[in-house]
Amino acid sequence: MYQDFQAELAWARLHMPRTRQAIAQMPDLTGIKLACNMHLDLKMAPLVEGLLSRGCDIFLTTCNPTTVQDDVVSYLAEKGAQSHAWRDMTNTDWSASFDEALAWGPTHLCEMGADLTTRFHENVSKGRSIPRIVASLEATGSGINRLNGMSPEYPIFNWDDLPVKEGLHNRHMVGLSAWQTFFQTTHLTLHEKVVVVIGYGLVGQGVAASAKAFGAQVQVAERDPARALQAKYDGWPVVDLGDAAPYADVIATATGAYSVVSDKHLNTMKDGVFVLNVGHVAQEIDVSYLKQHAQHSEPMPYVNAYKLNGKTIYLLADGSMFNLTAGYGDSLNAFDVTLAVMAKGIGYIVSEGDHSKKGVHLLPESAWKAALAL
Ligand SMILES: NC(=O)c1ccc[n+]([C@@H]2O[C@H](COP(=O)([O-])OP(=O)(O)OC[C@H]3O[C@@H](n4cnc5c(N)ncnc54)[C@H](O)[C@@H]3O)[C@@H](O)[C@H]2O)c1
Repeated sequence: MYQDFQAELAWARLHMPRTRQAIAQMPDLTGIKLACNMHLDLKMAPLVEGLLSRGCDIFLTTCNPTTVQDDVVSYLAEKGAQSHAWRDMTNTDWSASFDEALAWGPTHLCEMGADLTTRFHENVSKGRSIPRIVASLEATGSGINRLNGMSPEYPIFNWDDLPVKEGLHNRHMVGLSAWQTFFQTTHLTLHEKVVVVIGYGLVGQGVAASAKAFGAQVQVAERDPARALQAKYDGWPVVDLGDAAPYADVIATATGAYSVVSDKHLNTMKDGVFVLNVGHVAQEIDVSYLKQHAQHSEPMPYVNAYKLNGKTIYLLADGSMFNLTAGYGDSLNAFDVTLAVMAKGIGYIVSEGDHSKKGVHLLPESAWKAALAL
């Protein structure tokens, strides 16, 4: 993916002043063993190398094998991180990576999707040995949803719900980078296209608004009545996916839920429809149904054509997070805010984790606000 990895990394560092500042203000992290389960792309490297430079021991796993950039993992391994992650690793290897990370004995976790915390608590319920985790950070809505109903054995600080995360990254960056990736991947634009956005959380709101800005006719499908009403107040036609699927030119899932686009929807879609996902889980679209029932070809990289009932459905990036799998994701300047808040969050769990109660808490404003100043 990277033509000149070192040059791109230097460019990323240059455009991440808040991250540099947050790392410079961190305490000595000697003795901290941080297991990071995250997207492992170039934009993460300035933070991870910075943590290593402060003396932190790091074990890297991924929250999504389709977004791993192997160059990044190799670079961070050279800098001293341990890792068990590579692009398109099998589910068996992926699952084993969580066991390896926990067997390494982390003191702290930094997660996107709560995989390590889920495995930790499965091990607790099976009576298996577990490390003593002081505290954890969780960055995603999907991870927070997984933690619902769990009684965590350690404090977990949620920073997905911070206005500075969901209001900037989720709301403004995902839609922009998803459509930018759509243009680059398909060499098409959204003009004259009916785009149905499924899910009207902050991510769906940005995906819908960006699609309109790029010339699409946008409709929203949302199962939560309050969010559906919000979409109406924002001016979108709110549709039932079953009714809208046969007429859509592009369908984008942004829910974090499973089987949102089912076999029933796929069977009624029009010839030439594009289906993509920007939510956390690759199973928002019933890709396995397509794989079982349709003939497959790949006319362009990341564009998978499935012939179903005589019609062609173009599935983008195999249903995994499109903007990160086939594209670059957030801009560097926007991700600088995200990384700086993450660095502050890590500083917080290291200094305050031992004094915090078990359970899920919102990362306090005092922990992250200074990250915004330049
Ligand atoms: N691609 C990226 O770079 C990126 C970045 C940030 C977040 N995410 C992911 O995007 C997803 C959405 O994030 P969010 O912050 O908007 O979450 P959210 O939970 O606030 O919103 C999701 C919305 O989807 C709706 N929904 C769920 N199932 C549905 C269904 N079957 N039909 C219609 N609507 C349905 C929910 O009611 C909710 O309003 C999450 O999985 C998150 O982890 C992706």
